[in-house]
Parts: sequence; C-alpha cells; structure tokens
Amino acid sequence: MNIEEYRTAFLNYLDKNIDIKEPPNLYTPINYIMTLGGKRMRPILVLMGCHLFSEEYENAMEAAMSVEMFHNFTLIHDDIMDSANLRRGKETVHKKWNLNTGILSGDALMIMSNQRLEHYNGSTFKSLISLYNKTALEVCEGQQLDIDFEERSDVKLEEYIKMISFKTAVLVAAALKMGSIVAKAVPDDQQRVYDFGLNLGIAFQLQDDYLDTYGGEDFGKQIGGDILEGKKTFLFIKALEAADDNDKKRLLSFYQSESDYKGKVEDVKFIFNKYGVDKMLLSEIEEYTDAALNDIQRLSIPSEKKNLLKEFALNLMNRTT
Ligand code: IPE
Ligand code: IPE
Ligand code: MG
Ligand code: MG
Ligand code: MG
Repeated sequence: MNIEEYRTAFLNYLDKNIDIKEPPNLYTPINYIMTLGGKRMRPILVLMGCHLFSEEYENAMEAAMSVEMFHNFTLIHDDIMDSANLRRGKETVHKKWNLNTGILSGDALMIMSNQRLEHYNGSTFKSLISLYNKTALEVCEGQQLDIDFEERSDVKLEEYIKMISFKTAVLVAAALKMGSIVAKAVPDDQQRVYDFGLNLGIAFQLQDDYLDTYGGEDFGKQIGGDILEGKKTFLFIKALEAADDNDKKRLLSFYQSESDYKGKVEDVKFIFNKYGVDKMLLSEIEEYTDAALNDIQRLSIPSEKKNLLKEFALNLMNRTT
C-alpha cells in the first residue's frame, strides 16, 4: 500500500464513524473540526506502524481514530490558548461558536478519543491506554511550557526542543508505537518506531514554526501568529543570540509589547532575515529529518517498508500546509 491508500482507508472509516448526537451544540463543533480536513498524518502513522509488523493493518483503525480525535481536541484548545482565528483555512471552533463551546466540545472529543481504545482487550488494551495517558499528559506539559515561555526572553534552545518534543513529537511517536502495539511487535521494534517518530515529530514542529513565519496562504493559519503571540521559537532564540545590541533591544521590545501594529510581523522578520536565522532553522529541520531517516535503517523490516517510511518523512518535510 502507498501513503495515499492509507489516507483513503482512514477517511472512509472516519466517514462511517462520524455522527451528530444530542445536544447538537456539543457535537456539531466536534463534527466540524474532525471533517475540516488536515493531513491526517497521525492516523496514517498508526496504520503504517501496525502494517510494518502485521498483515492486518485494519486492526489499528480504532487506534488511528483515537489518535486523530485526540489531535483535533488539542487543536481546539490550542487555538483558544493561542488566540488563533484560523485553522485549516477556516474559522477556529471558539471563533465560529464561542469560548465555552470550545472548552466543552474539546473535553468531549478527548473523552470520545479515549473511548475508541475500549475496542481493544487484554495486554494490547493495557499497553495502548498506558502509552496514550502518558503521551496525553506530556502534551499538556509541553503546552504549559509553550505558554510559560511567552513570558520569558531567556529560553534556551535546549528548553525549546524539550517543549516541542512534548507538545508535538511524543504524539507522532506514540501514533507509530500504538500501531506497532496493535500488531504485537516485540518491545525493541516498538521502541525503534517510537524513536523514529520522535525525531520526525521534532522536525515537523520546527517546520511548523518555520511555516508560521515564512509559509504561504495555503498554510491555513494566520502567518506571523507566533510572532504576535510572543512565541519563543527557534527563530526568536537564534536571532536574539546573533543580534547586535540595537537589534536585540528592538527584538525584545517587539516581543514584550502587546501592540500588534500593522507591519510588526514584517519588522520582526526583517531582523530574522538579517541574521539568517531562517536558513539556520532549515538546516536544523534537515538534521532532525536525517536523524529520523537513520532511525528507519535500524528497523528490522523489509526494505520496501523502510522505503515507505522514508517517503512519508520526505513528503512531510516538503509540505506547505
Ligand atoms: C498542527 O498539526 C499542530 C502541530 C502539532 C503543529 P498538523 O499540521 O498535523 O495539523 P493538521 O491536522 O494537518 O491540520
Ligand atoms: C501545537 O503547537 C501543539 C499542539 C496542538 C498540542 P502550535 O500552537 O504551534 O500548533 P498550530 O501552529 O497552532 O497548529
Ligand atoms: Mg497554535
Ligand atoms: Mg500552541
Ligand atoms: Mg504552530
């Protein structure tokens, strides 16, 4: 199977599994976010993670649903925390409805995601739920760090990498590992797909931060949103490190001021570009992608399956959305 076939299989399954129950004000926003599109990379990774070690990848469909639902729940709440109005080119849930709807529909979606794992039994269920819960808590920790960093100007690169590992990469890694758990892969193999997912997930979030500043219209989110929110990304950390005293002062004042005057994003970008931190970020993305590609080589699976993982990683790193 190729990547597009996994995506289609998942989308067909999703289509059959989405319905609006009572009360509609709780479930309509859930239906909205779940059918808004998106790359569906995490459920595809669950299915692929299973198919690497078992013929019956369909057994991982409920785990794939669980992970995609969890991801979409985090997006609803993340958009509230980040004051984001645009998601996948459309209005965010709290913007289209209101804050309370975003909070409660998000809660319900997380619970529904959890329910999907009830499909599994015995030691498979036990392993899935414990990985799921550990991962979900780490995502909260990462999100808290992300918010905490908004108030700080002294965030170290190492702290930032830890933060993005938690808010984003652990779920990518867990998606692959959940698939491998359903396939009853041996623990060593489970760990190896997890390691691959972690490096890929870090590269992916670095890329997300790049696109947030340098992406085009099709990115589907407000360009410059991270700058306006005062997010301490790789770009900010490296620019602050490289800048002369005057630019350092300007950069800090942009990030500390609440005023979002027209042209602020461009002014910050000017400093980023002056010190070439965009190029530095691209090479950091490449390093984590290479680390992920090396992890693939360590897997004990046939070479055509390795090639599929490689293709997935390279496609993802060429994304614009
Ligand atoms: C967005 O994830 C949140 C991040 C972790 C950067 P995706 O870029 O996978 O979002 P969709 O599901 O494809 O819209
Ligand atoms: C997302 O980080 C992490 C989670 C959703 C857990 P971002 O805040 O960068 O994601 P986007 O850019 O809004 O999709
Ligand atoms: Mg966000
Ligand atoms: Mg965020
Ligand atoms: Mg982002």
